[in-house]
Amino acid sequence: MKTELKHFPHESAVSHVTGEAKYVSDIQLHDNLLWGQAYFSPIAHALIKKYDLSEALQTEGVVDILDFRRIPGINQLNAFTHDEFCLAEDKVTFIGQVIFLIAAKDRETAIEASKKIKIDFEEQEAILTIEDAMAVGNKLSPTRSITTGNPDVAIETAKFHIQGSLTTGAQEHWYLETQSAVCVPGENRNMTVYASSQNPTETQNVVAEVLGLQSNQVICEVKRMGGGFGGKETQANPIAAWAALLADATGQPVLMQLSRDEDQKITGKRHPFLSYYEAGFDENGIISAYNVDLHANAGSSFDLSIPILERAMFHADNSYFIENMRVTGTMWKTNQPSNTAFRGFGGPQGMAVIENVIDRIARFLGKDASEIRFNNFYQIHSRNVTHYGQTVKNNKLQRLWNELIKSSDYYKRRKEIELFNQKSHFLKKGLALTPLKFGISFTTAFLNQAGALVLVYKDGSVMVNHGGTEMGQGLHTKILHIAAREFGLTMDRITISPTNTSKVPNTSPTAASSGTDLNGMAVKDAIRTIKNRLKPLAYKMLSAKDDSINDGPLIFRDNFIYLKSSPEIKLSFSDLIRQAHIAQISLSATGYYGTPDIFFDREKGKGKPFHYYAFGMAVSEVEVDILTGNTRLIQTDILHDAGKSIHPEIDKGQIMGGFIQGVGWCTTEVVRYDKKGNLLNCSPDTYKIPGIGDFPVRYKADLLKNANNPNAIHQSKAIGEPPFMLAFSVWMAIKDAISSVANHTKEPDFSLPATKEVVLKSISNLI
Ligand code: MTE
Ligand code: HPA
Ligand code: MOS
Repeated sequence: MKTELKHFPHESAVSHVTGEAKYVSDIQLHDNLLWGQAYFSPIAHALIKKYDLSEALQTEGVVDILDFRRIPGINQLNAFTHDEFCLAEDKVTFIGQVIFLIAAKDRETAIEASKKIKIDFEEQEAILTIEDAMAVGNKLSPTRSITTGNPDVAIETAKFHIQGSLTTGAQEHWYLETQSAVCVPGENRNMTVYASSQNPTETQNVVAEVLGLQSNQVICEVKRMGGGFGGKETQANPIAAWAALLADATGQPVLMQLSRDEDQKITGKRHPFLSYYEAGFDENGIISAYNVDLHANAGSSFDLSIPILERAMFHADNSYFIENMRVTGTMWKTNQPSNTAFRGFGGPQGMAVIENVIDRIARFLGKDASEIRFNNFYQIHSRNVTHYGQTVKNNKLQRLWNELIKSSDYYKRRKEIELFNQKSHFLKKGLALTPLKFGISFTTAFLNQAGALVLVYKDGSVMVNHGGTEMGQGLHTKILHIAAREFGLTMDRITISPTNTSKVPNTSPTAASSGTDLNGMAVKDAIRTIKNRLKPLAYKMLSAKDDSINDGPLIFRDNFIYLKSSPEIKLSFSDLIRQAHIAQISLSATGYYGTPDIFFDREKGKGKPFHYYAFGMAVSEVEVDILTGNTRLIQTDILHDAGKSIHPEIDKGQIMGGFIQGVGWCTTEVVRYDKKGNLLNCSPDTYKIPGIGDFPVRYKADLLKNANNPNAIHQSKAIGEPPFMLAFSVWMAIKDAISSVANHTKEPDFSLPATKEVVLKSISNLI
């Protein structure tokens, strides 16, 4: 009998609902806690001529105000590229860049003081869009490319040919907990940082750098985040560094938290892309050649733009084998906050282009787009190598397509929709199936490692420390399941500690959907070490109960240890542990995991960057009101490959959340700036994330059965990011509905997001 663990709820489910769950700003400290407030640049590009802090400093309740000269260490925020000032020196390069830091008794006082700061700027011309940057050649780094076959010749010789461009928009993360940190100064200038960070080690490193300390003088602890979505992979570091500078200067603990408006204004978003493509194909829609140039608006500095653009390039093929292909990637430097990681990490931007291309090919040939997609899928034995040279193994695309076409009643509904559209003038329906293939691993190969520290206490209870952070995605719950299964303990015997750099060092960010893959393996490794130490004693104790017992495989299950051959003679885990302590056996161990055999040669553009791929597919049906451009999501059917799921409910939650977040990006979320670079929609009344009414009227998500993933922890598969891209089914269904206005004979203008404006414009161009 197997211990049934799967229905244990999210470890914080109850405290999330009751409000007991603690976030950074809930931390109760001594009454000398100060509020830290940043002073933000109001101009996108300017020289700082002079400033005067004296009047502001006299505000009652203000303890200190810092400029860059007061930084004891390095004035830098990016631990790798050192291209981001912690506090501006003689110029500002985006709106929201921080120039001064104020410590005061409370927020109101700090805001009052910030209004008294006098500063003279000399405004410079700002570059805001990709087009602006292209016009003056403002590349952040040279264009890169990946090529396979001979795309230029193949385009020439292809039977048919299309070309065009596509824009995809920015996206605000809209985590519920805005960027925040509490810093507590200790003895000898040591600093403890309570952060809302996906990346505690980098937060620790950046704080150490600005304070001029070694890493061993800074501790970063993360209990949980109220959402991260990539927005706290690097961009949680600045607020920790600012709070630490104030705490160090004042000798008092400091809390900093951005208001919603501040957060939206000053933090980076998903990179907007402008992409140019051409494709050659035959009468079956099989693409023989594809050239695509991806251009990303990186913002004012590198941040994570290099790996994001790289992932976009790796995903330009989505699920399709293309024999001759060239993808180029260029990052443009602009006077905007530096754009950053966001669920999918460039993958969605690269995949949107090929999805639109396939859709165009289908319309061109007068065929059903889902069939053109099928015709181009990676195959099992041949036509299975990507443009960067990795073989697509354990491909689930054909299985997913066959099962989903059937379970969603695709063909029947296709016919019904055709009939509906013939009769209905102002409401048009659309239907689309889209696939996804997503590479799992950090594309920066060395980041694919994790550590753990497992502690068994004398009473037989267990505390697990690991390097991953909890942002709502259920990582800690999955790790609890893994630890319970490895130790054969019930869940009530195990707790997970907050992530802490003094327990597990040198951690990678919890990102790239690999939190469970990496940390789960490290925890398993630590538990194996402890179990191996316990085994000789367990044999001894079992044989004392029955001297016929001497060897054979030991089973750890349901809080007992026994031999497979004689399950009736048992030893309780707590008895074993009590004796082990007396027998001087060490009851704690570290664990480690590094993903094997992944590499990528950036010069050659070839390698095996991913440990494996995740696959998924969705069919969505929408209704478009052609008079208002309003769209309604009627039905979505999802079939997703989560391997052998460690926790199906959590995985389904990730599918639902990822999908609807993708729907937001694909349909309603527009980040708008004025000509000076001021963000115009920095609150939820003007920035439209999906609400409950945007959820499909009918929704079904299933996990693909019999899909064990041989290379990962307990044969599971990463789930965090891939479902985001299931939302392409909605985007393409909207296009299908628009296209029905001209009876699918004309190619609609289209872009992403397909807002009401885009939809209306597109329709009016067709009629
Ligand atoms: N789910 C919730 N509830 N909140 C989040 O912030 N972030 C997503 C995804 N799911 C996120 C989430 C992103 S961008 C990633 S990379 C993964 O979770 C990270 O966690 P994992 O590696 O444990 O899946
Ligand atoms: N995903 C997320 N974060 C990253 C990656 C990646 O592939 N590479 C470096 N940081
Ligand atoms: Mo996720 S964008 O890799 O944090």
